[in-house]
Amino acid sequence: MQDRNNTIAGWVLFAGIVALGATLVTGEAFHGERPEEMGYPIEGVEAEGGAEAAKPVAFYLASADAARGENVFKKCAACHNAAPGGANALGPALYGTMGNAIAGHPGFAYSDALKGVGGSWDWEKMDAWLASPRNFAPGTKMTFAGLGNPQDRADLMMYLNQQTASPIAVPPPPAEEANADAEATVGEDAEKADDVEVLTEAESETGAGSSGGPEVPEAE
Ligand code: HEC
Repeated sequence: MQDRNNTIAGWVLFAGIVALGATLVTGEAFHGERPEEMGYPIEGVEAEGGAEAAKPVAFYLASADAARGENVFKKCAACHNAAPGGANALGPALYGTMGNAIAGHPGFAYSDALKGVGGSWDWEKMDAWLASPRNFAPGTKMTFAGLGNPQDRADLMMYLNQQTASPIAVPPPPAEEANADAEATVGEDAEKADDVEVLTEAESETGAGSSGGPEVPEAE
């Protein structure tokens, strides 16, 4: 009896070790193969991601939040000061930058790359700069990779637009149609064709009427 119990205990222990080993091995294997992005790409869905990136800055500004942007600004604070009267540091002082001339803060030695851009900081330019300083001004001294998330950039710009005595106007949110535009690009042509048909129908109807003159504004 004693022997048999030992044998059983032995097998149970052995099974446990095997199970544990298997868990470790499979765990390791799956961990190693864990993809960067979860899930698998589906054609068409991928394209939607592209459309997402193409949304206008105004779309993200519509739900932007300066308080969140102040939090994002922590990534910039090592090199920048955005407070009133803040000093230039590794990067130029950023108080009053929105709407100001690009590379326009007095007393900072900007790179020729940034000085060569010209114009002033509006929403689109700042968005492009924050997305990738290197692409916006190749050769810039700002060694910051950029912010990939368009909402982070919008939040940050909203914050920067508070850190100035003369904030620039926030663009109105894009119309619903503009939002749907990106998704409906494929069907757009078909829609236009429909519109044309409707127009010609309307025209022929008004043509059938006596003058049709006063009806034109209604049709539009
Ligand atoms: C590693 C330091 C560093 C970090 C981090 C950094 N910057 Fe800069 N930034 C610079 C430098 C240096 C310049 C000047 C670039 C040039 O002259 O090419 C600059 C320039 C700028 C300018 C142009 C200012 C002007 O007067 O035209 C803006 C705007 C700006 N940075 C915003 C930011 C924001 C917002 C962040 C955080 C998301 C950030 N930077 C992160 C170093 C940095």
